[in-house]
Amino acid sequence: MTPAARIAAAIGILDRIEAGEPAEKALTGWARRSRFAGSKDRAAVRDHVFDVLRCRRSCAALGGGESGRALMLGLLRRKGLDPGEVFTGEGHAPAPLTPEERRAGRPPEGAEALDMPDWLLPGLTAALGGDLEEVCRLFQARAPVWLRVNERRCSREEARALLAREGIVARPSERVKTALEVIENARRIKQSEAWKTGCVELQDLNSQALCADLPLGAARVLDYCAGGGGKVLALAARAPEGQYLAHDADFARMKDLPIRAARAGAEVRLVKPGEAGAAAPFDLVLCDVPCSGSGAWRRSPEGKWRLDAGRLEELMKTQSEILDKAKKLVSEAGEIAYATCSLLTGENEARIDAFLAANPGWECRESRRYSPLSGGDGFFLARLVRKPR
Ligand SMILES: C[S@@+](CC[C@H](N)C(=O)[O-])C[C@H]1O[C@@H](n2cnc3c(N)ncnc32)[C@H](O)[C@@H]1O
Repeated sequence: MTPAARIAAAIGILDRIEAGEPAEKALTGWARRSRFAGSKDRAAVRDHVFDVLRCRRSCAALGGGESGRALMLGLLRRKGLDPGEVFTGEGHAPAPLTPEERRAGRPPEGAEALDMPDWLLPGLTAALGGDLEEVCRLFQARAPVWLRVNERRCSREEARALLAREGIVARPSERVKTALEVIENARRIKQSEAWKTGCVELQDLNSQALCADLPLGAARVLDYCAGGGGKVLALAARAPEGQYLAHDADFARMKDLPIRAARAGAEVRLVKPGEAGAAAPFDLVLCDVPCSGSGAWRRSPEGKWRLDAGRLEELMKTQSEILDKAKKLVSEAGEIAYATCSLLTGENEARIDAFLAANPGWECRESRRYSPLSGGDGFFLARLVRKPR
């Protein structure tokens, strides 16, 4: 495909997303219908779509509308490129610009320029203070790719050398001892020997930092909201002598977990919804709760535009319900680790305050935020224990 044909494809996909189709589904559907597209085409089209989604508001302002065509026009202007060179109508390029399209568009202002919805700005300002603008600007750009080295399989330097043999260049994090940032050929990771043999897993830097901050040596660990299992696998790699169980309200979300665990040489037992109580008590119950995902919006930018106040309320209710269930699963001396990838106080400190107000026998041993300005996604962790009697 020519560069202009890739842009035309991205315009069609953006139209479907604007009509309500989830981005991943729209991209997969396009790839299925476009057998002529090679892997480089698919990657380039995906990049265009996600570049727009991260900056949807400023692209709409610059492009003068919210159609796929206007958004892409805005993206090209945002990048300082001449849209007239792409919108030529030649071959499979988008149709030439109309005089209205040439005139449309203006510089983005205020929250538009930060690519945040207006309704979220007060909450984000309260949570981030002076970091607000820097975080919003960071979320307009692509996220770095981080790997977690599985120290049960190899050292970080060995993993790095193994990756380098296949042209994947990575550099170590100074902050997290298992983390490597991929700086070249990230798209080859899942075909690499290092990944296939369980030496490395894809995991965000701050997700790794959070797992490293959890207490070591807990004998029995339950990951109550395990999803794909990224965190429970990190814990199992760190303290293999422990016993690890994974639970999720949506059991199907854990479908790849047994394969990932086998690759990593870890043992993780899956627990069906509603059956965690039978396996209790646990020394550590990790609740990596469903949340707005606002700490990871440069990776999943769609969430920024789909979230609304009603959905946020629902999420906070679920978060409190999960904490309530978790407290019944923890041993007398055990702890709950409450985690989110959210920046919002309502999903973080306020949920912990509400839990402590309703449960005076509990206290918060430690809580911390992991800032996106430190290289990874934004996370929050609170460790809850029973007060000594
Ligand atoms: C943030 S994701 C977990 C990500 C995962 N821990 C990781 O590191 O890859 C939250 C998960 O919580 C699950 N979930 C939602 N509501 C739940 C509930 N009421 N009880 C348990 N799990 C729930 C979702 O299905 C989702 O997989």
